[in-house]
Amino acid sequence: MADLGRELTLEAVRITEPAAIAAAEKVGHGDPDEADQAAVDAMREMLNHVDIVGTVVIGEGEKDEAPMLYIGEQVGSGYGPAVDIAVDPLEGTSIVAEGRNNALCVLAMGERGGFLHAPDVYMMKIAVGHKAAGCINLRKNIAHNCRAVAEALRKPLQYLTVVVLDRPRHQKILAELRKLGVRIKLISDGDVSAALSTAVPDTGVDMLIGIGGSTEGVLAAAALRCLDGQIQGRLHPIGDKQIRRIREMNIDDVNRIYETRDMAGGSDLIFAATGVTDGDFLKGVRFGTTWIHTHSMVLRAKSGTMRFIQAQHRYGKAKTKRRP
Ligand code: FBP
Repeated sequence: MADLGRELTLEAVRITEPAAIAAAEKVGHGDPDEADQAAVDAMREMLNHVDIVGTVVIGEGEKDEAPMLYIGEQVGSGYGPAVDIAVDPLEGTSIVAEGRNNALCVLAMGERGGFLHAPDVYMMKIAVGHKAAGCINLRKNIAHNCRAVAEALRKPLQYLTVVVLDRPRHQKILAELRKLGVRIKLISDGDVSAALSTAVPDTGVDMLIGIGGSTEGVLAAAALRCLDGQIQGRLHPIGDKQIRRIREMNIDDVNRIYETRDMAGGSDLIFAATGVTDGDFLKGVRFGTTWIHTHSMVLRAKSGTMRFIQAQHRYGKAKTKRRP
């Protein structure tokens, strides 16, 4: 299949919007699972209204551990193009639970076989937007990568802004970045949003480095593919059990470096995200007096378009809860 059909771009947003509204009702409740479940339920329900023959390839987990949006689940109305679906119904479950910034509902749709079937292990990632695409290399050290990106962006190193997940495992990376004198933005969660912000104009973010989820790596690759950015990822298993799991998934070279297209290939794909809480490039859901306001982005690889969609949803209408 060469073309997903441009009308699916709007359909993709119609799936992430209700998920974001459902998750946004749980902001600050202190319960990541409750927020995640709300997003999963809303996304799953909406997916069946869309004319696709869809298979979930990145989702909530294996069938025995996830009742909905599990890997291999068939979704869609059963009519329309055959597509693979990668979802993170709520990217930043703790962000929502704690009422912090940059939580998203995310979905990518591509041709059959287009997405890497990523095992549920960590991945070392490095990502940049299109002006620095081609400059990053996970085989080289942090200093080399930062210098190459700064040069591509025509910035002195001290103005380069690098996002890193705030985790103890990143102490060495942080020490190297600090030695170089670059600016560092530490985030508590949400490296899909961080990877994307390297490629969206005027976010002030130039580069993402560090270890996060591999499924999040695939979703970031889908977005960066549409925006002509670049991401590289190398699986980062912890312990023999995870190495065995990787091998079981027919990945022989555990140290392989995956390029953007290795993770999100095919001739066309669509990426959509709706903000749950305010973020670097999307506003969070706002519950007004008459309307619920959502802010989404939708990208398409084939056309290279980046659309921002502001939508107002009436309380009590389809897929939005009745106003209390
Ligand atoms: P969840 O939404 O599943 O909680 O993931 C949030 C996240 O911060 C991802 O963006 C990131 O890739 C991963 O968790 C990092 O994992 P960990 O919290 O184990 O360091």
